[in-house]
Amino acid sequence: MNATRIEGRLASGDLDILDKQHRRILHLVAQIGGIVEKEGVGMEALQINGDSCHALTNDLFETVTLHFRCEEDLLGAFEYPLLGEHRKEHSEFIERLTKFLFTGILKGVDLAGLYAYANDWMCRHKQGPDTDYANFLRGK
Ligand SMILES: [Fe+2]
Ligand SMILES: [Fe+2]
Repeated sequence: MNATRIEGRLASGDLDILDKQHRRILHLVAQIGGIVEKEGVGMEALQINGDSCHALTNDLFETVTLHFRCEEDLLGAFEYPLLGEHRKEHSEFIERLTKFLFTGILKGVDLAGLYAYANDWMCRHKQGPDTDYANFLRGK
């Protein structure tokens, strides 16, 4: 994440970068929620917003993948004791997100379902496991 980090010491920008990524993810999820609210759900929304839905869900996938990798790299560098559980949560989210997107290739993305799942997961994960590691790292 930060090439200038001194081994074993938290660089001042590390948590800021992760927080910025959190805001970006929540913004993308909120955009999906906005489409659901405005256009309805599932196939109808996809047909109306085909290209923008595709770009949005791809953007979400790429942003989340990058964010998880950054977190896991940083937590690994500090030998965070709960990294295994944290990594497992990330994997479960990627698995569900992938399922939403693959299913969507044939039937149209279930945007309402994706929004409900991603919004709930992100809020819970950020307030729980992500807050736990931030407290751990602040002590470094
Ligand atoms: Fe996070
Ligand atoms: Fe996380």
